[in-house]
Amino acid sequence: MRILGIETSCDETAVCLIEATGAFGPNFSFTTLGNALLSQATLHTKYGGVFPNLAKREHAKHLVPLLQKVLEEAGELKTADAVVHHIDNAILEREPEMLAQIVPFLRSYAKPAIDAIAVTHGPGLEPALWVGINFAKVLATAWNMPIVGVDHMEGHIIMPMIENVAQSSGKLRAIAYPVLALLISGGHTELILSDTLGSYTLLGQTRDDAAGEAFDKVARLLGLPYPGGPEISRLSEAARAEGLPSGVSFTRPMLHEPNLDFSFSGLKTAVRTAVEARAPLTDTLTKQIAREFEDTVADVLTAKTMRAVEEHAVQTLIVGGGVSANTHIRQRLADAMSAYDDQAVFLAPPPEWATDNALMIALVGYFHALRGDWTDPLALTAHGNLKLAKTA
Ligand code: KG4
Ligand code: ZN
Repeated sequence: MRILGIETSCDETAVCLIEATGAFGPNFSFTTLGNALLSQATLHTKYGGVFPNLAKREHAKHLVPLLQKVLEEAGELKTADAVVHHIDNAILEREPEMLAQIVPFLRSYAKPAIDAIAVTHGPGLEPALWVGINFAKVLATAWNMPIVGVDHMEGHIIMPMIENVAQSSGKLRAIAYPVLALLISGGHTELILSDTLGSYTLLGQTRDDAAGEAFDKVARLLGLPYPGGPEISRLSEAARAEGLPSGVSFTRPMLHEPNLDFSFSGLKTAVRTAVEARAPLTDTLTKQIAREFEDTVADVLTAKTMRAVEEHAVQTLIVGGGVSANTHIRQRLADAMSAYDDQAVFLAPPPEWATDNALMIALVGYFHALRGDWTDPLALTAHGNLKLAKTA
């Protein structure tokens, strides 16, 4: 089956075409026929975070060119004279920025060899999600193909399960259940238990800021650009390499509370207080604070995750979402998991595949499509707060 993945939930516009075969398990394999991604991160830098309407406009501007690139890479961009597709004007009226590009595009090219379209319908920024959804709807109508609405977080769970993801073809690792997923991204910090693909229970989550949000806000306090995660990581690594003393110390939030929840908003306040007390910050102090912040987040994430591994006899620990690109956090989890060598495995995505992309959406979409789990295009809407997991 050839499935086109579309992702626009936050500040990455991404399109990916895969050809996949086999059910979830050892017989599954796929080839990436085309993949394109555009990050808006630098555009949002001056806002210190993602500005929803800017994100929406940028998605609308880039989806058609990215799709064109993907189809070209796949050898599926075939010009044809006077192609007549049914174009749904009612949908396009809601996407005026896309209108000018998509109509000529659809009229110029023949229907590509694609069987279905998978699109993120949540969670995320609703204006941003809508652009991807309406794009998918127009394509599905014009090309007469079914749609699967995909939960973005399931994409982050599936990504670390893929072997050879950086190459053009991949398969699944052997996955032993129960799987515990630590999802750490700009909008989420969750511990999710899964006993099989598609079945998820929420064990714990942040009560306020997400881990990525904390990285972004603390970076701002330290005068570092958005997205803050990579910047803080870089400074923390420098502090460790230089052997700087910690210089400042933060309380590990909720570390000793008997639950699997997190809280990062108090930590952000502690950083603000430390910064204000020491202003103006020297480069050394900035590195010290960045490192102590990263250590604090890593301590809490690792401790709570390992508690869940113990309590639920977990056989596979997965870490996913943008913050899982963080070298130190990955290392801390890997170190903690090494004590469970003969009992459980630890999987993390390659760092460049930890952040948002459309491959993960196409992959999840494929497994849903195999089960006939299609979404009625009329019922397909953006769910900013879509919940993947049921509460325990
Ligand atoms: O999953 P993602 O790309 O988008 C969402 O679904 O939110 O995650 C983005 C988040 C941002 O908050 C960013 O600062 C953080 O991931 N991030 C990192 C690193 N790379 C990205 N956080 C810590 N260390 C990193 N290396
Ligand atoms: Zn994400």
